[in-house]
Amino acid sequence: MMELIDTRGGSKMLKIGLMGCGKVAGYGHLPAIAKSAKLDVFAIYDPDEGRLCDMQRKFDVPFAYTDVDRFMQSGIDAVVITSPAPFHLQNVVDAARYGKPVLCEKPLAMDEAEAKEMIRLADEAGVALYTAFDYRFSPVSLQIKQLVQSGEIGEVRLLRLVYIWNLHGKYGTDELGRQILNQRREGRMEEGGPLVDCGVHQIDLARWWLGSEVTRYEGDGVWIDDSLYEAPDHMYVRLDHASGAKTMVEMSFSYGHTAKEPLAHFTYDLIGTEGIIRYDRREQVFEMRNSKGTTRFPFAGEKNFAGMYDAFADALQTGDPGMMPTARDGLMATWIARTATDEAIGKKRGETSE
Ligand SMILES: NC(=O)c1ccc[n+]([C@@H]2O[C@H](COP(=O)([O-])OP(=O)(O)OC[C@H]3O[C@@H](n4cnc5c(N)ncnc54)[C@H](O)[C@@H]3O)[C@@H](O)[C@H]2O)c1
Repeated sequence: MMELIDTRGGSKMLKIGLMGCGKVAGYGHLPAIAKSAKLDVFAIYDPDEGRLCDMQRKFDVPFAYTDVDRFMQSGIDAVVITSPAPFHLQNVVDAARYGKPVLCEKPLAMDEAEAKEMIRLADEAGVALYTAFDYRFSPVSLQIKQLVQSGEIGEVRLLRLVYIWNLHGKYGTDELGRQILNQRREGRMEEGGPLVDCGVHQIDLARWWLGSEVTRYEGDGVWIDDSLYEAPDHMYVRLDHASGAKTMVEMSFSYGHTAKEPLAHFTYDLIGTEGIIRYDRREQVFEMRNSKGTTRFPFAGEKNFAGMYDAFADALQTGDPGMMPTARDGLMATWIARTATDEAIGKKRGETSE
């Protein structure tokens, strides 16, 4: 339970501290927190002073730190972690040390062991730890959840969730305009590749929409790019749910990765005994087809940071997680994505050594 205090013209706000002033903080988290009626961006932290100062200026943040202890002691009520995945554990260690509740970007951790350690630390410190699965809060995702629950397409037997794209392409340019490897894509490939970095959202949606735990899974992948990443850059995984339903997730960071005019496919297909639900981001289609006819729903993007922050503010205020994805949700998605990726790597090694 957390009390709101006066920080902005008499309105009641909770003070948020954000760790990691990169891309997703700039386009997703900080704008959403700034718009929230209940949250205030009070302090930010980043080891990179340049990024820190840019972000402080852009969002008019009162306090900015490169020192983690000063950041934690600045008076913040809760911590948002938007650093790259290899730093999430250390960020949670620091937040737990200062007894701060946490909302952590996906993938929650690099592997199952790290995620378990984070949960242990948060439990020991008596603070909440949530995973930033912002896809859940998209109006599309919320509508799908409601349609599935009310049986509009009967019993859902199969989910096909596809996101194949190039993660902004193999190449970028440096400040002199010379062609260089796209560092963001390189980093994400080194952190585990498409299933670990992006596919955790889809794994989470499947568990959440169906309200049914994954009991078994099997994945594999292919290496499209010649860059010899350890992880496959194009992966697929099949999930078996306790309900008997199955989910197929396909994720790629190399779909047209060197194409001059690349294309991305982002689709959800839910196939039930009484109908189908279909979402296609490129075609801007979101519809349901069943025996009553075809219902077209308003189109929306797959992300909703503002909705996630409404739920986060409520969870902080009441102490009840409500709609917030938990650390266990983050652990499950990380575990499935990481082990499926490791199995694909193992298969490739086995194939090569034969
Ligand atoms: N939910 C989504 O839709 C979504 C979208 C993109 C990225 N992400 C996730 O968000 C995280 C960040 O991604 P990004 O693309 O913004 O990365 P980024 O590389 O653009 O930015 C990361 C920032 O973290 C800083 N940093 C480095 N070490 C740190 C540390 N120890 N503590 C705090 N900050 C540190 C870096 O200096 C940088 O400013 C990743 O986990 C990524 O998977 C989520």
